[in-house]
Amino acid sequence: MKLVYIKTYGCQMNVHESEKLYAAFELNGIGQADSVENADIIVFNTCCVREGAETRVIGNLGIIKKLKEKKRNLIVVVCGCMSQQPAIAEKLHKRCSFINIITGTYKLSSIPDMVKRVQAGEKFIIDLENDETIAGGINIAKRSDKISTFVNIMYGCNNFCTYCIVPYVKGRERSRKASDIYDEVKLLINEGAKEITLLGQNVNSYNDGENNFLKLLDMLSDIDGDYWIKFMTSHPKDLSDDVIRLIAERPKLAKYIHLPLQSGSDRILALMNRKYDIASYLRKIDLARSLMPTVGLSSDIIVGFPTETEEDYLQTENAVKRVRYNNLFTFIYSKRTGTPAATMDGQIDEEIKKERITRLIEVQAEIASKNASECIGNTYRVLCDGKEGDKYTGKTSEDRVIVFDNGTIGKFIDVKVTSSKNSKLYGKVVD
Ligand code: 5AD
Ligand code: SF4
Repeated sequence: MKLVYIKTYGCQMNVHESEKLYAAFELNGIGQADSVENADIIVFNTCCVREGAETRVIGNLGIIKKLKEKKRNLIVVVCGCMSQQPAIAEKLHKRCSFINIITGTYKLSSIPDMVKRVQAGEKFIIDLENDETIAGGINIAKRSDKISTFVNIMYGCNNFCTYCIVPYVKGRERSRKASDIYDEVKLLINEGAKEITLLGQNVNSYNDGENNFLKLLDMLSDIDGDYWIKFMTSHPKDLSDDVIRLIAERPKLAKYIHLPLQSGSDRILALMNRKYDIASYLRKIDLARSLMPTVGLSSDIIVGFPTETEEDYLQTENAVKRVRYNNLFTFIYSKRTGTPAATMDGQIDEEIKKERITRLIEVQAEIASKNASECIGNTYRVLCDGKEGDKYTGKTSEDRVIVFDNGTIGKFIDVKVTSSKNSKLYGKVVD
């Protein structure tokens, strides 16, 4: 049996796309390799959201080149967001002639067929055709984790934030049919899934023509079984008060919202084309907190967007201090060719960007640590999802990480927090 190894870069969407790709290979009689060395086919499922992700792909391709010199029949595939960009695909093809197949984000399910064509003698295939019909049908995936699972609800993005490459490589928004999503979620729950994370670039604008995101959440939080639903990513301009209220009301909707702020400066938010201001963002946060005092909040922040001044940066710091996120994903602005921000005047010096991100990480570390210490004494329902030495690990509905003495992986359990270290909680199982 031939074996495939998929190396995944980037976000949870890509992780899940790779799970689907493994399933597509399996349907074609190709199994999963446990390492690059044991593989007959190697797939790079790439990301291009920041320059660092692209650099890592290029670095790792160098290693594969050496492997291919030893193993001439090895088939090398590059797919995903990075190679969906025609200029990059061209460059990869010219510089890395050992790559057999270059495709992008639209043709993942056709990759096993492309592999067959290469096995039959075609030297290389480049297929970047844009096919935005992929929202339909049941998604078959070979999930590495059957307890905590991902389900795509939509693809693409219409927002064109000025720093972001995603709309150019993933195409326009399209939503899967709510009934297909419902069937998939129900099946996963029947198979033992306890945490379902709904995935989309902007889940709040989900709309299959009949159902919006509120209706979808309503349907998915009313299935028999012991589970909770999380979702990402929410766009602050589209997260409705009704959705916040539903999260508060429904026990099966996790009390967790990932709501990327990006910047605390209204001037920068406007330049980013985010279409909200800090006041309306904070109003949503306040509503969520008033309805769910323990709600878990996390965010993405970009520092060093073109023209960002020290004053703009301090407004971001202030917003972070005001919201007191449990978790913050901080990024240095990275110029992406083809996006409006890449050609804006006032690009910020790398040193200043690094200095700002260091300060922001410090501010957040203090907040997260204080947030965690305030949990001591509380009891949380925890989904046990792994082991760390002789201890068990899990996550709360608020998406807090907790380590405890005893548990069963894949089961919910009540844990009382006894101590904390940085943002991590430590506790004891309650009988
Ligand atoms: N530079 C830095 N960060 C970026 N992100 C998206 N594009 C860029 C970029 N060009 C960040 C945003 C987004 C997250 C997934 O990645 O914060 O929410
Ligand atoms: Fe990128 Fe903005 Fe779309 Fe998110 S909403 S994927 S940041 S363009």
